[in-house]
Amino acid sequence: MKIKIADLEFEPLISEKLIVERTKAIGQQLNADYQNSIPVFVGVLNGSFLFIADLIKQIEGPCEIAFTKLASYYGGTTSKLKIRDDIDLIMDIKDRDVVIIEDIVDTGNTLHYLIDKLKQRNPSSIAVCSLLLKPAALLSPIEELKYVGFEIENEFVVGYGLDYQEMGRNLRDIYKKV
Ligand code: IMP
Repeated sequence: MKIKIADLEFEPLISEKLIVERTKAIGQQLNADYQNSIPVFVGVLNGSFLFIADLIKQIEGPCEIAFTKLASYYGGTTSKLKIRDDIDLIMDIKDRDVVIIEDIVDTGNTLHYLIDKLKQRNPSSIAVCSLLLKPAALLSPIEELKYVGFEIENEFVVGYGLDYQEMGRNLRDIYKKV
């Protein structure tokens, strides 16, 4: 069923059921990969808030959770080259295994910016887990991107945390622009 958000129309792309299944599978991978560590999950707000919450419930071992807030779209449907750094990560990540949790990787600019910034704080390792990836939009490879929920076409999506003009974050499924 099509829906309208502000001036744009959207149609279903990924169902809540598929998101739940994929999140469980990624959680299992993380449990195996970090069984000998106490990782710090760094959630990138706002778009990943639902994914962070659901993914973290799949983690069985001890872990810590911290947040940062970055923006590269602010309002429109295309990525801006300039990243807005709204809230810095406060936790000390020196010698820690860091797992960045993102909603979506588009051009990759946001992640390159964040990874470079966090590397200067000397963590033991940095990996990235993103619910969505648009491979055709990625400007340069991101070595740290180890966990991806779904690869999608180069299309604008909303729902499950992702917004268009700050709306649509509450939708349970993910929709693409018609
Ligand atoms: P990048 O810096 O171009 O990789 O963009 C990453 C950020 O842009 C994500 O964390 C989202 O906040 C936002 N973004 C990218 N693609 C979409 C989309 O299709 N819908 C909504 N937000 C998006």
